[in-house]
Amino acid sequence: MNYTLKVVEIRKETEDTVTLCFKQPGLKKIKYLPGQYLTLIFRINGRRYIRPYSFSSCPGIDSFLEITVKRVENGLISNHVNDVVEVGDSIEVMPPMGDFIYHEEYQFTDIYFWGVGSGITPLLSIIKYILAEKPAVNVHLNYGNRNLESTIFKDRIEALKSKYSERFIIRHFHTKLMVDESNPYLIQGRIDQEKALDILGEHDGETAHYICGPAGLKESVKSAIQLKFGKIDHVYSEDFELVKDPKDFENIHTQSVGLVFQGNSHAIEVVKGKSILEAALNADIELPYSCQTGNCSTCKGTLISGEAKMIGLTKQRDDLSANEYLLCCTHPLTENVHIEI
Ligand SMILES: Cc1cc2nc3c(=O)[nH]c(=O)nc-3n(C[C@H](O)[C@H](O)[C@H](O)COP(=O)(O)OP(=O)(O)OC[C@H]3O[C@@H](n4cnc5c(N)ncnc54)[C@H](O)[C@@H]3O)c2cc1C
Ligand code: FES
Repeated sequence: MNYTLKVVEIRKETEDTVTLCFKQPGLKKIKYLPGQYLTLIFRINGRRYIRPYSFSSCPGIDSFLEITVKRVENGLISNHVNDVVEVGDSIEVMPPMGDFIYHEEYQFTDIYFWGVGSGITPLLSIIKYILAEKPAVNVHLNYGNRNLESTIFKDRIEALKSKYSERFIIRHFHTKLMVDESNPYLIQGRIDQEKALDILGEHDGETAHYICGPAGLKESVKSAIQLKFGKIDHVYSEDFELVKDPKDFENIHTQSVGLVFQGNSHAIEVVKGKSILEAALNADIELPYSCQTGNCSTCKGTLISGEAKMIGLTKQRDDLSANEYLLCCTHPLTENVHIEI
């Protein structure tokens, strides 16, 4: 069941980023875990657009439900949120989802967070939770931005540092700034494998890692973890975008696909490179979806005939049966593909 939430405050975080603060519904409060996301549904010029945004708030600490949205160049909804949404607006949202969360079952003394740009949102939510609720855990935040001005939540991170100075270790990485030698928290350049390895050099025990940022960040941090510890364990990542390798499309061609949705049959053209979900949405068929990164399963369909393949999945999905496909990353391999959803 979806909710309708009212925007009660909008905070400008940086030149291109705002935080929307929603009031909890009066009757049935929305429950969520730090690190999960809220999916917003907009209708613009008669067309429906659905986008997930991680909570930047933390349950039990922040009274509002908060999401933080950074403009994407030519991005429809991120710019709509920054330019058009106002205090007092009501926005339809899906129930919280996501498995990028703190794992209570493990007891690490040191947890590392690796983020770039808007990737800080779920990290901050989890960090606030750990600092407040897990006094035995040290939190290491490694956060990359262009410069100080473009650093989302810089003041809130500083406030947390003042409150939890012993347990909160911060390193800011700035690509567009000559480093001030007197500031030990500021490092020039990107978070690459070498810098990640330097940071990990200080620690020998078991660690957990949360990564949210571009594919390059994830690769650098994972390879540093592999080099340092000889294995990649307890490494969790959230992807804001599906990363597609052009090589995976070599045997894919534009095809007509049969789709049965809510008892209605459609024939849609799926152009090479586009997923079946994208093709259906372009044909004004309002299939359910949320993450568009092969994570949430909202877009799951059943392959009735033909052959198809999923491209861009970053996590293994043992929960899907042989004929179940996530349409946001599914592409037809043969002519006679029929899908039911
Ligand atoms: C689980 C999850 C959590 C997310 N949390 C946040 C969050 O907390 N804050 C936030 O700002 N965004 C977040 N996102 C991304 C967000 O959902 C949208 O994808 C983003 O705002 C772009 O939407 P749009 O409508 O503006 O762009 P679209 O109109 O959908 O896309 C326009 C162009 O931008 C490219 N693009 C799409 N997404 C991105 C991106 N993230 N970075 C760079 N280029 C992109 C597309 O490939 C396309 O070419 C999250 C995504 C996921 C899957
Ligand atoms: S929309 Fe989330 S898995 Fe496809």
